[in-house]
Amino acid sequence: MSISYQHTPVLLHETVQQLITRPTGVYIDATCGLGGHSLEISRRLNAKGSLYCFDLDPRAQAFAKDRLSEYENVHFIQNNFDKIKMAMFIEEIEHIDGILYDLGVSSMEIDSPERGFSFMQDGPLDMRMGETELTAADIINTYSQDELTHIFREYGEERFSGRIARLIVETRPYFRTLPLVNCIKNIIHGPYVTKTLARIFQALRIEVNHELDAIKKSLADALDMMNPGGRMVVISFHSLEDRIVKQFFKTAVTDCICPPEIPVCVCGHKAIAKKITKKPIIPSEEEIKTNPRSRSAKCRVIEKL
Ligand SMILES: C[S@@+](CC[C@H](N)C(=O)[O-])C[C@H]1O[C@@H](n2cnc3c(N)ncnc32)[C@H](O)[C@@H]1O
Repeated sequence: MSISYQHTPVLLHETVQQLITRPTGVYIDATCGLGGHSLEISRRLNAKGSLYCFDLDPRAQAFAKDRLSEYENVHFIQNNFDKIKMAMFIEEIEHIDGILYDLGVSSMEIDSPERGFSFMQDGPLDMRMGETELTAADIINTYSQDELTHIFREYGEERFSGRIARLIVETRPYFRTLPLVNCIKNIIHGPYVTKTLARIFQALRIEVNHELDAIKKSLADALDMMNPGGRMVVISFHSLEDRIVKQFFKTAVTDCICPPEIPVCVCGHKAIAKKITKKPIIPSEEEIKTNPRSRSAKCRVIEKL
């Protein structure tokens, strides 16, 4: 199959450089998407190394498979990255040497109006990355006003969550993106509208795909599977994702995690990793100019002890 699509992977060389410490090792690209990072990883592995490419999205997997077809040691697993342990166990692999996460949606997903991720184009209120049941329309049309307020506030960090939820409940059903956008525009005007729409759409996408729970589970499972010296490299695009990664990394690299008011350690927790980058790696101005979608990216790296 040959599908054509232009896209630029974020922080490509920086992340792959950090990830590969052993070219003969077993690596995972947890969010293979269109395969931009996977391609660079495959180029840097030698014939004994292998790469396992996860993605929920069958279209992204088809695209990446085609793109990486010349590499024999690349394997594709269409599954949620929160199933990494089980999926790798089925492949008879218990230990890995590195994993990369490039979180969020791919440019192909955003640019396909029929997927419903974009508030700029009309499409069905879908927003599913994989082949799951719950759609954004189900959430908009069946959640209570309180539940909608909660997800807009928690997953979108939107100030006007309550007012937006109330108007949606009063005027629903909604089945397409642009009518929902117009509903929100009745409340938010002028320069704030784009940011609000981005927050509401982000909140719906996170709820549809249970994104934050999947990240938490996957980070823990992957670090558990990591060989000493193996690295976990995570690119996040918004504060909710980054907070989870930062907190997870902090716990992984810290010996005692007792609350500060306890004078003597009672937790017995021991660090299992060390930080490789003190501050997150961010894109250069040049990268942001050529690929504006990279502007909010933050990459953090730890290494298993
Ligand atoms: C930002 S894109 C990755 C782009 C990729 N690095 C590239 O170079 O093409 C994120 C991808 O992760 C996938 N994804 C998001 N959450 C996932 C999850 N929980 N499990 C598996 N794949 C997921 C999305 O479907 C999307 O294709």
